[in-house]
Amino acid sequence: MEQGFFITGTDTDAGKTWATVSLMHYFKRQGKSVVGMKPVASGCLQYQGKLKNADALLIQANATVPIEYDVVNPYAYENPISPHIAGLDNPLLASIVIERFNTLKNKAQIILVEGAGGWLSPLSYQMDVADLAKQLGLPVILVVGMQLGCINHARLSWQAIKFQQLPLAGWIAVCKDPHMRELERNIETIKNYLDGPLLGILPFMENADFNQLSTFLSV
Ligand SMILES: Nc1ncnc2c1ncn2[C@@H]1O[C@H](COP(=O)(O)OP(=O)(O)O)[C@@H](O)[C@H]1O
Ligand SMILES: [Mg+2]
Repeated sequence: MEQGFFITGTDTDAGKTWATVSLMHYFKRQGKSVVGMKPVASGCLQYQGKLKNADALLIQANATVPIEYDVVNPYAYENPISPHIAGLDNPLLASIVIERFNTLKNKAQIILVEGAGGWLSPLSYQMDVADLAKQLGLPVILVVGMQLGCINHARLSWQAIKFQQLPLAGWIAVCKDPHMRELERNIETIKNYLDGPLLGILPFMENADFNQLSTFLSV
C-alpha cells in the first residue's frame, strides 16, 4: 500500500459508495492498482447461499485485482438496520477487520475503506466508525451529501473527525439532489467552514458512470 483513505459521510446515503468507486476510477486512471473494503454492511441479500451487500460487490468489482468477498466485506448483516443491532449474534471485531485490511495492503497501491452510516454510527456495542478509522489509522475523506441540512452535518462531522486526531485528507461534495436550491452557494459555505481541501464536486448523474465522475476529483 502506497496510500489509503477511510471514506466517511455526513449520513447514510450521503454518497460514500459513489464517491469511493469514483475515487477507485480516479486512481486507476493514474495507472495505480486499487482495492477497496466495506468492513461492515447491513442490508444484504443472499447470493448462492451467502449474504452479500451491493456496496461491497461494487467495490469488489471495481478493484484492479480479484479479491475474495470476505476480505472486502467481513461483516455482512441481512437486516438494513444499524450494524450494532443487526450484528448482535456476530458482533464486529476490530481484530478481524484489521486482519483483512492487512491482507489487502499487500495487493494494491491504493486502498479505500468505506465506513457505514456516518462518523459516529455504532458498528457494535463496543465500537463506532470513528474507533475503527482510528485503529486503521488512515487519512479520512468526508463525503457531504448535498441536501438541506448538510452544512450542519458537514461541520459536526468535520469537528468530530478532528477530535479523533486523524489526518483529514479533505471532503467531497456529492450532488445527489438535482433540485437542490442554491447548490453552489451551499458548497461555497461549507468550503469556508471546513479547513481542508475540497477534493471534488461530483455532479448529479441519473445513471452512474464512475469513470466520468472520477474526472471531477483531484486528490
Ligand atoms: N452523483 C450522484 N448523482 C445522482 N445520484 C447520486 C449521486 N451520488 C449518489 N447518488 C444517489 O444517492 C444514493 C446513495 O449514494 P451512496 O453512495 O450509496 O450513499 P452511501 O454509501 O453514503 O450510503 C445512490 O444510490 C444514488 O441514488
Ligand atoms: Mg454505501
